[in-house]
Amino acid sequence: MLNDRIEAAIQRHICSAAVQGPAPIGLHKAIDYSVFPGGARIRPVILTSVAMACGDDQPTMTDAAAAALEFIHCASLVHDDLPCFDNAPTRRGKPTVHRQFSETTAVLAGDSLIVGAFSTLTSQVDVDARRACNLVAHLANYTGFPNGICAGQAWEDEATIDLKSYHLSKTGALFIAATQMGAIAAGHDPDPWQELGARIGQAFQIADDLMDVVCADQDMGKPAGQDAKNDRPSAVSEYGVDGAKRLLNDILGGAIASIPSCPGEAELAKMVQLQSTRLMSVDRQATHS
Ligand code: IPE
Ligand code: IPE
Ligand code: MG
Ligand code: MG
Repeated sequence: MLNDRIEAAIQRHICSAAVQGPAPIGLHKAIDYSVFPGGARIRPVILTSVAMACGDDQPTMTDAAAAALEFIHCASLVHDDLPCFDNAPTRRGKPTVHRQFSETTAVLAGDSLIVGAFSTLTSQVDVDARRACNLVAHLANYTGFPNGICAGQAWEDEATIDLKSYHLSKTGALFIAATQMGAIAAGHDPDPWQELGARIGQAFQIADDLMDVVCADQDMGKPAGQDAKNDRPSAVSEYGVDGAKRLLNDILGGAIASIPSCPGEAELAKMVQLQSTRLMSVDRQATHS
């Protein structure tokens, strides 16, 4: 149900759906390839769940916010996989965008999705200008510099890297965006939703760091062992496998208590519990460890 709603929103708002006259077909295909079929769509699931817990009184606003956030996420993966970043051959079980198309097309597909994300939000100005602008401001903050993905990826070029800041901006940012944009879409104050997003986001990246070490390529649909290969700091390089698991459990242990009071708090707690259980079972996703 929730997944159907999210897929429909993404289909409705993707920039390639707006093509009316002639347009470069290679880029059109690359944009669609970057977004469909999706991965877990975890960020829009969290965003929509928070909006529903807050009343979801403007569903088209929620849908636009969910789609916009997923476009930024997909763009971040396309750019992250490029040779100048992680040089990854596969993503979601298929060749990465630059391998399937070309490097130039992959750069432009990512760019188009980023710009398309903000157009998606501005499509809601007539519904509620205040909420739409607030969504634009939050998504921009968590995409760019100094608090967003751009800053997160830039840590990789620094001589010394603070792991928590690196994780918070490269991955946590879009999870904080998910909880806060869900609240904004439903007319609630985003500030109390920061902690929940930060906890899930940090846990998500620690789980990803663990999977990079304990899982095989086919378990994840992307290559394993990338952090060591690219000499990236990770929760495993910093704390070891057991230490990273302990940290993951500690962070998620406080997640439910960090849910702000809202009409759908109990239902949202079930979703957070489900996601936490999934992240903590990272070992069971490994078939060869
Ligand atoms: C992958 O995110 C990038 C990280 C932050 C580790 P996801 O695991 O959410 O990617 P998809 O969208 O499900 O493929
Ligand atoms: C995840 O970075 C965050 C972004 C893509 C911005 P990673 O490089 O750790 O993610 P994967 O492992 O390639 O999905
Ligand atoms: Mg990377
Ligand atoms: Mg990567």
